Amino acid sequence: MKVWTVANQKGGVGKTTTAVSLAGLLAAKGYETLMIDLDPHGSMTSYFGQDPDTVEESVYTLFQSAANKTKISMASVLLRTDVPKLSLLPASTALVSLDRQFGTRVGMGMVISNALKRWGNHFDHVVIDCPPMLGVLLINALAASDRVIVPVQTEFLALKGLERIQHTFDIVRQAHDLPFQEVIVPTMYDRRTRASIDSLKYLQEHHADLLWEMVIPIDTNFREASRVGLPLPLMNPQSRGALAYQALLDDLLEREREASL
Ligand SMILES: Nc1ncnc2c1ncn2[C@@H]1O[C@H](COP(=O)(O)OP(=O)(O)OP(=O)(O)O)[C@@H](O)[C@H]1O
Ligand SMILES: [Mg+2]
Repeated sequence: MKVWTVANQKGGVGKTTTAVSLAGLLAAKGYETLMIDLDPHGSMTSYFGQDPDTVEESVYTLFQSAANKTKISMASVLLRTDVPKLSLLPASTALVSLDRQFGTRVGMGMVISNALKRWGNHFDHVVIDCPPMLGVLLINALAASDRVIVPVQTEFLALKGLERIQHTFDIVRQAHDLPFQEVIVPTMYDRRTRASIDSLKYLQEHHADLLWEMVIPIDTNFREASRVGLPLPLMNPQSRGALAYQALLDDLLEREREASL
């Protein structure tokens, strides 16, 4: 089982879109795939037609049972989606109080990681979507991850956010002795705009070592896909956005192959 986390402390940069697109492609390739929504806003959960305000069992249930030292079965918290081989561990809005409730308790950084250890043989791939802030949920995601995918919107404000999240990664990696490596993915690239061209150049000059060599283009089909509730690569595989995520997936799988040699 490989665990990929999509994270960036900046909001609206394409995290959920990236997580949903990659997970959809993995499932379409025949991999048993689990998506985990760690964002209290529950965008990924809503994407698949569930309401994070009313969902009964969720990531929150998992944290509660860890805090109470009770065991819950995987089947009781996971939902199947309409896509074959694609399951979802949904978010609940109750997650918003998680840091206050459990943030400082010992062991609460490993709740997701421990759950995945128990469920590991059911899934080939896990894709985690994160909230745009540092807290116990992001720590849980990083602690469970083999790889972290960092979508960076190709505009200047987003570049500032990148230095901040890399600082966060360094601190978390050292404090918890974690091995994950990150890949920077330029998103919403619009080759007609100066901002996109210049910020991609900045990434190539300053972050070449971690940068994926292609870009995710701006594509209005993403909005339509989220309305329909299907990953874009499954709704419209030949769209520019879908082809770009297919290329990203191929690159990530190639990295996994190389890492396991
Ligand atoms: N490549 C793209 N082209 C056009 N629109 C996009 C693209 N990627 C994402 N979007 C749209 O931009 C909006 C924000 O994307 P998304 O929800 O994936 O970002 P996010 O980083 O998860 O946001 P948040 O921090 O709020 O969770 C959505 O409406 C999404 O459909
Ligand atoms: Mg999101």
